[in-house]
Amino acid sequence: MKKTNSLSFYYLTLFAVFSIMAQILTSCASSLPSPREEDMKQDRFNKLAIDELRDGRTLYVSKCSGCHSLYLPTQYSSSGWDTILTAMNPKAKVTEDEALRIRMYLTVYSNND
Ligand code: HEC
Repeated sequence: MKKTNSLSFYYLTLFAVFSIMAQILTSCASSLPSPREEDMKQDRFNKLAIDELRDGRTLYVSKCSGCHSLYLPTQYSSSGWDTILTAMNPKAKVTEDEALRIRMYLTVYSNND
């Protein structure tokens, strides 16, 4: 009887830890802005394609979250992102096309200077 109790306590703790971790992970990714049709009407989105921006967000989440948690686009200016991406693109092993889309996403939602 005592054994079963401690075992279920063990699983309960394990479950709690995993749900908290899952929550943290999803809350980080979901606070990243998702490109919306109404954004595209603003000047700075002029000439950008929403599909490419959405690709940029997806690529950012998949290629840049392996080593550290994701930074929000607004944490840097567009020139700040340029400097960072010069260092990070080789680490993330992105193709030129992937790099362009990630850059487009991060700079258009950046803390523009
Ligand atoms: C192979 C591991 C790795 C990958 C993949 C990676 N990074 Fe990093 N990143 C690091 C390390 C290590 C640091 C901290 C040291 C440094 O600045 O080099 C860092 C730091 C950063 C910082 C903070 C810079 C600062 O000045 O405070 C940002 C922003 C960042 N990475 C963005 C990205 C983006 C965007 C991508 C995808 C293109 C990416 N990272 C992919 C390892 C990685």
